[in-house]
Parts: sequence; C-alpha cells; structure tokens
Amino acid sequence: MGLFVKATGKLCHTWSMSVRNWYENFDDEDGRLGGFSMEWLRSTELIQRVLPAPPARVADIAGGPGRYSAWLAGLGYQVDLLDLVPDHVEQARRRASAQGVAVECVVGDARALPWADETFDVVLLMGALYHLQDRADRLACLAEARRVLKPGGALVTSHVTRWDSLFDWYRFDSGADAEFRHIVDVDLATGCHENPSNNPNWFTTAYFHTPDEIRDEVTSSGLIDVQVLAVEGFTHLIEPPEGSRKGDGLKTLLADLRTIEAEPALLGMSAHLMSLSRKAPVVIRKITVAEVPEMRAVQARSWLATYPNPEHGVSLEWVQETTNQFSSAESLSEWAEIVKTAETDPGQFSRVAEVDSRIVGLLHAETQADGTIELKAIYVDPPWVSKGVGTALMQAFDEWAGETPVRLDVAVYNQRAIDFYRRHGFESVAGSERIELDVIPVIDMIRPRRRKFE
Ligand SMILES: C[S@@+](CC[C@H](N)C(=O)[O-])C[C@H]1O[C@@H](n2cnc3c(N)ncnc32)[C@H](O)[C@@H]1O
Repeated sequence: MGLFVKATGKLCHTWSMSVRNWYENFDDEDGRLGGFSMEWLRSTELIQRVLPAPPARVADIAGGPGRYSAWLAGLGYQVDLLDLVPDHVEQARRRASAQGVAVECVVGDARALPWADETFDVVLLMGALYHLQDRADRLACLAEARRVLKPGGALVTSHVTRWDSLFDWYRFDSGADAEFRHIVDVDLATGCHENPSNNPNWFTTAYFHTPDEIRDEVTSSGLIDVQVLAVEGFTHLIEPPEGSRKGDGLKTLLADLRTIEAEPALLGMSAHLMSLSRKAPVVIRKITVAEVPEMRAVQARSWLATYPNPEHGVSLEWVQETTNQFSSAESLSEWAEIVKTAETDPGQFSRVAEVDSRIVGLLHAETQADGTIELKAIYVDPPWVSKGVGTALMQAFDEWAGETPVRLDVAVYNQRAIDFYRRHGFESVAGSERIELDVIPVIDMIRPRRRKFE
C-alpha cells in the first residue's frame, strides 16, 4: 500500500499537521513493516551489503519505533537510535526490551545530532530526508550524518519517489477528488508535498525525490561511491502473487528485484529509493616536499599530546620548545631532504595518511646497513587517534617491509603506542631502556622476521 491511503485515521485535528503531529495522531508507524513487507525484505538486504562484521556501531537516525535498530542489535551491532517523535522513541525502547536487545534511544533532530565526530561505522538515515522540503535542511542532515561517520563508514538513506502520489491516485481510484488531484500536481511539479486540509489519508509535509536529486544531494555532501537503488521496485504497483511471497518463489522475486534495482529507467517506479554511499576512507600516499610543513605540524601536535610526562622527567615546556623547532627553516629543509631522498631510495619508506585532503598522520622508515628496517617515526594527529589512521599506515608499511625484521623505539610511558605495536607483532626488548634526546626514556621493540601471510 502507498503512503497516502493508508492511515489509521484516529482523530482529525483541525490544526496543521506537523510531521510530529502526524506520527503522534494519524499514523501507526509501530505497526508498519510488520507481516509480509517487500520494503522490509529489500531494505534489510540492501543494508546488509554495507554492514561490516559485528560488533560495529550503527546510528539509526529517524529510526522511528526501532524495527531496524532491534534487528541490527539482534545481529550483534551496537545501535543508537534517534527520532524526532518521543512516542516513537518510547516504542523503540519497548521493542528493544521485548526482544531482549540493547538499543540506546534518544529524542532529537537529524539536523543536529548529539554524537561526537567519527563515532559510527554505519549510519542509517531512513526517514528524515523525506520530511524536509528545503534542500538546505536536507544537506544539513546529510552533513551531520557524514560528520558522525568514521572514515570509510557507510551511509544508507531512504527517500520517497517523486511519482508516488500519482501512482496512488490511480491505485485508489481517486477520480473525482479535486483536492487530492491538486496535491498530486504540486508533488509532480515541485516534490513538495502538503496536506493543507489535514486529511489523514494524505500523509504529511514531505519531500519526494527524483533519483537524480538523491544522487546530487548525497554526492554534494561529500560522500563517495554513491548508488541509488530501488527498494520495493515494481512490487509497489503489482502486488506479488501468493506463490512469490514465500520459498523459491520469493527467492526468484528478490533476485529479479536485485537485477533491476539500479536500472535508471525503472527507478521512479518504486515507492522508496535508497542510496548507499561511503565516507572517504583514509588514503595512504607519498608525501611531496611542499607538504613538509603540514606534516611537521601534525608531528608537533602529536608530540604535545603524547610526550609531556613530569613523572618521567619530560616537562611540557621542553616538549613545547622542541616542537617549536619543527617549523624552523632548518628543520623544514632537513625534512625536505629526507622526503626527497625517500622518493628515490628504495630502502626508505615515507608515507602520509590523508582524510578529506588533510594530512592526519605520517610514517617514515629506513633500511639499515644490516638489512633490517628501522621504523623511525609514526605519528597520528591527536583528533584522529583510534580511528584507523595508525592501522592504515602500518598496513602500508607491512606491505613494503614484507618479512624483513623491524626495530623501533617508543617512550616507555606511551602505553597506547606500545599496545599498538604489540598488536602488530612487536615485542619489547628487555634491557634496552635508555634516554633519547637527553630527556625521553625509551625502550626498543622489535618484530623478528615475519611469517608470510601473518
Ligand atoms: C516513516 S518513518 C521511518 C522510520 C524508520 N526509519 C523506517 O524506515 O521504517 C519516518 C521517521 O522520521 C522521523 N523524522 C522525521 N523528521 C525527522 C528529523 N528532522 N529528525 C529526526 N527524525 C525525524 C519521524 O519521526 C519518523 O519516525
């Protein structure tokens, strides 16, 4: 059934139906998607394509009464749900508790999320975008979704198609209804759906997208690898016969929908469209001489966040003085030489990590006279720590280093780094403690010859 002639129609309020008012008084969102639902079957299939292995973090923005959240929590994901309507949030809490799963539920607006940057592996934005008529609001929503995604994380958005009310006009034989016809005409012309007489059958304030608009809005919001796909496709117009609703018949129907899900000529036939996209991941690449100042600034911030430790005799003043030198002409030209040499010397490996065209980490290693490798520097800009940047740099380094034994030194009190190196196969060398730069107590760590495919 389409979006329009479906409401349960409890009370007819005389005031304008806001989105919240609609869901609180005219809609049974909690009951939607129960029973046999192609929207549910197809949406869960599409979402599963972008889910990493659990336990990853998922945000279900505009998650309504939590059907998707509870399903995901049941699969082992750590799920946070946000919705504008307090009733929905309460229903989501009840659903999670009835299913024995944990879902953090909060009332909020998708345009101003309460979560920190780079929190989630996957963000579902399935509902808010089709209630926002201003492109600026939709872009604000997408910008927030992108902000809370980790680099490389996946975004899933849902949309109602531009032509949906037209289809309903015919499906529900609305021939004599001039008022609904006017609504349909405005929808077709502008995408902005209104229900000025508050007819409970005609949905509420909404925006109906064309497939091209979806692609444009998601791409303009800085997401990459954008796909726009039909959710229920033609089954929105042609009710699947009984034999296609279970067993092999259903498998065939789902396979057919998959085959045509991205066909541009058919996209608009679906009631719902979904976009799948990704936030640009960490890029590991060579550094240019021109980028040396930016790279040294990252290094300075990393030192300031890591090294001050009065207990071990390393004062903040000393670290500040030392890092101030990083931007001196002498130091920059010294590093420019290192970068130039690394470009041509196969025994050296210098890489930076980049996110959204910003350098957020660096790694430098050199082959020694005895054939082993010294990992001389690996730094991550403090806001990017624990977000996969160090791991991405190490993966690139591991590919280059192969099986060759590697040595490095690390401040004895830098437990986070020591744990990181241990996870990458390094062991501390007993008795190697010493003072570097006259101040920092360090210890050696080595990784002996690595086994292939380790
Ligand atoms: C049709 S429901 C979809 C619920 C669920 N995501 C799904 O796909 O079944 C749309 C949801 O979007 C919520 N919503 C609309 N605008 C919102 C906004 N600006 N911020 C947060 N939630 C919003 C509504 O309260 C409603 O629960």
